[in-house]
Amino acid sequence: MTMDTIPLFHNKNIILGVCGGIAAYKIAELASKLTQAGALVDVILTESATKFVGPVTFAAVSGRSALTDADLWRHDQHVPHVQLGEKADLLIIAPATANTLAKLAHGQADNLLSVTALAARGPIILVPAMDGGMWSNAATQANVAILRERGFHILGPALGRMASGLIGEGRMVEPAEMLGYARVVLGAKGQLAKRKIVVSAGGTQEAIDPVRFIGNRSSGKQGFAIAQAAIDRGAAVTLIVGAATLPTPYGAKRIDVETAQQMCEAVLAACRDADALIMAAAVADFQAAQLAAHKIKKTQDTVDFAIQLTRTPDILQAVKDQKEAIGKPPITIGFAAETQNLIENATAKLTRKGLDLIVANDVAAADAGFAVDTNRVTFIGAGGGVEPLALMSKAQVAERVLDRLIKLLG
Ligand code: CTP
Repeated sequence: MTMDTIPLFHNKNIILGVCGGIAAYKIAELASKLTQAGALVDVILTESATKFVGPVTFAAVSGRSALTDADLWRHDQHVPHVQLGEKADLLIIAPATANTLAKLAHGQADNLLSVTALAARGPIILVPAMDGGMWSNAATQANVAILRERGFHILGPALGRMASGLIGEGRMVEPAEMLGYARVVLGAKGQLAKRKIVVSAGGTQEAIDPVRFIGNRSSGKQGFAIAQAAIDRGAAVTLIVGAATLPTPYGAKRIDVETAQQMCEAVLAACRDADALIMAAAVADFQAAQLAAHKIKKTQDTVDFAIQLTRTPDILQAVKDQKEAIGKPPITIGFAAETQNLIENATAKLTRKGLDLIVANDVAAADAGFAVDTNRVTFIGAGGGVEPLALMSKAQVAERVLDRLIKLLG
């Protein structure tokens, strides 16, 4: 399967500045991920970075040239650093050493990277990595304070084991987190900037006794993909999660819940100041009428055993009531998991739950629905328009859902 490119990164000019730190090798992975996501990645290595890792590695993963200080003095190109800096949509410097932080804080420009950073017009993310003592040093802290004040984005450092063997604050955050952070920074001015979107994901679990529950096959993948895509477009996202073991998209406010009742309370509260709710969670419709205080035991002659179930709250119904009462959230989008009569059943849910859009999902198909990475959905709008989509990745479905949401928000 080919990895999805990420629309946010498509043809974006991203410069990766690599300084001389032991973590420099990890940046090859970031260069690779960004390139796969569709970005045009140019790498600039400082002189000391080349002691740890060479330009060939970066050129191989980015498919573009990796530059060193030798390129600063080339005369076949007109001032390459100014061009590079000016056209960059984003500059990420990782690992950012104490030395480079000091240079940037004081506007020094004595190598290709620092010159490029001075010429850059786009946002700059600095990912510090150094020994804990160097990080906590008053000089470094003062430099970081200056950089922060000037609008540089500082990511990390993290607490953990450093190359010296000591545990402390100074460890470079991992490339996956850098990628997530870059999405927040790059997406900040997107179409959903200043919007608050609530997304629910995963399945609820209804306890029967202290060790058992009623659950469902939802993995949370579709809801998490929607949350990430909304962050890519600049939204403030609250992600309300039932059972799901996926990493939280960077920047999302995650609230973990267990039961339908808890999810209902969390969703209603989060929606009080939200612009939209996208309800992708698979909510249990029934819960045990009585929660056994102790593990239910079988006896010698237990053959049949019945559990009495009662209804859980219908969250979207409750949201509809709240919307009628206080106008929040103005837009609600639901999902419909069906195994038969997809359009008919989904349309009935759309009407009953007062939705603006329903994303109907044939969960009986092997390549769509639960746990897989692909989905085949049909959009049904409140006005009655039916739009079947082709089989696509859940990330792509997420983008299409947000395209519709943006239209609905007007
Ligand atoms: N949903 C909800 N509260 C519930 C059950 C479902 O808010 N107690 C939401 C789901 O998150 C989804 C939509 O309602 O967005 C439709 O869910 P689905 O399970 O397909 O339908 P149900 O409402 O359970 O209806 P049915 O039992 O007829 O399938």
